[in-house]
Amino acid sequence: MQLKEKYLKISTCSLMSNTQANDGIPPDVLSKVKKYLQPFQLSTEMLQEVSARLRKDLIRGLGKHSHHKAPVKMLPTFVRATPDGTEKGDFLALDLGGTNFRVLHVRLEEAQKVLKMGSQICTIPQAMMVGKGEQLFNYIATCLRHFLKSQKLKGQTLPLGFTFSFPCEQLEIDKSILIHWTKGFKCSEVEGKDVVQLLKEAIHRKRDCHIGSVAMVNDTVGTMMSCGYIDQSCEIGMIIGTGTNACYMEEMKNVKRIEGEDGRMCINTEWGGFGDDRSLADILTEFDVEVDKTSISPGVHIFEKMISGMYLGEIVRLVLVKMTKDKLLFKGQISKALGTPGQFETKFISEIEEPDSGLENAMKILTELGLVWDPVDASVVHLVCDTISSRSAHLCAAALATLVNRIRNNRKLDHLETTVGVDGTVYRKHPTFSSKLQKAMRLLAPQCNITFFVSEDSSGKGAAITAAVAQRLAP
Ligand code: BGC
Repeated sequence: MQLKEKYLKISTCSLMSNTQANDGIPPDVLSKVKKYLQPFQLSTEMLQEVSARLRKDLIRGLGKHSHHKAPVKMLPTFVRATPDGTEKGDFLALDLGGTNFRVLHVRLEEAQKVLKMGSQICTIPQAMMVGKGEQLFNYIATCLRHFLKSQKLKGQTLPLGFTFSFPCEQLEIDKSILIHWTKGFKCSEVEGKDVVQLLKEAIHRKRDCHIGSVAMVNDTVGTMMSCGYIDQSCEIGMIIGTGTNACYMEEMKNVKRIEGEDGRMCINTEWGGFGDDRSLADILTEFDVEVDKTSISPGVHIFEKMISGMYLGEIVRLVLVKMTKDKLLFKGQISKALGTPGQFETKFISEIEEPDSGLENAMKILTELGLVWDPVDASVVHLVCDTISSRSAHLCAAALATLVNRIRNNRKLDHLETTVGVDGTVYRKHPTFSSKLQKAMRLLAPQCNITFFVSEDSSGKGAAITAAVAQRLAP
């Protein structure tokens, strides 16, 4: 508690000077609103402190004896090399990580060209996300079979990259045990099992469907690999979408949990689990606590729940409900939609923060939510969205700064130039998220010059490229 007050009172933060967001709010209302929002505003010093805590957790996660209990899992991926651009051939990619499941046919050609020959999106019904594991894998195999047929690929045996964006203990490139589900998934009989095996069994059950060797990757790794195919200085992959996470190339000698001292290996940090041992309790707001408590997985992925698209809208909703109950908004009248969990979607935040049309969008959204609003209400809602998305961007920056500073120290460099491959709807679709994150990075990692390489579909394509690198390196 003491710590919380100390950090929140520091006024030197140059990250929070968004006066534009205050426009249209009378001073007396503004001062009341600010009391609700203050716990979300983390000073530069606090972000440095968050980064220092994560630094310690990265070391715990890599340790031989400490990794079992570490909240940040630091999972070895068995990806030992980034692409060198010479990889070629036809590959299949499966991408499962959110409400959509995708199948792709990718061709890697001369001059680092990645051609998407075809793709198909299948929506995963909500009931399937929490149903039987076998049903989920059968569905994936059905989609794959349908895709192969439509692309006239039936009868061919192509190598397959499988992007599975959940925390997995990877034993080999094609053996990977799911630790636990995240992002609203809770299928039975998958946790603790090898997901590559489950996939192969489901495909086998289809009888007339065949695949070649499988390379399994997390979406962060897929993103790093697909950006690395074009820009060889890419050594970090980051996702800020439904969930959040990052991977990076670590020196093998520091990965104490596995044998070997030479070269590097890509580590899937699973930074979403940061705070699961209560190490972030002093910066959690009452709204974060509520979001966690009412989630399908309480106590799991606390950091992710402060940052990612699955939760941001709900945090905003809870703040708005509280302000309305306290008669600061909508003349104290909560509509049915505003009172219902999940009804304030994260995409509303992006729409409300659009530089030109934001206020207009806010008014439309509030009307659709059945609220009776005035222009001050719309401005307050805008400020709430801005505050919560800014906290998300700043926390991501604190985590990313920890990684780049670590790489710089590992290599004993005064200055590091590196590229981060990024994907995820929050980063790509929110109008100011990337600039807020990059501004914070300049403060938190001043000795690192970072290029952000954003690409769509990167995790799927990256899985195909990983399959290609694995093929290139195979004895
Ligand atoms: C998962 C990660 C994944 C991230 C982004 C998290 O919930 O645990 O494995 O990389 O979401 O999709």
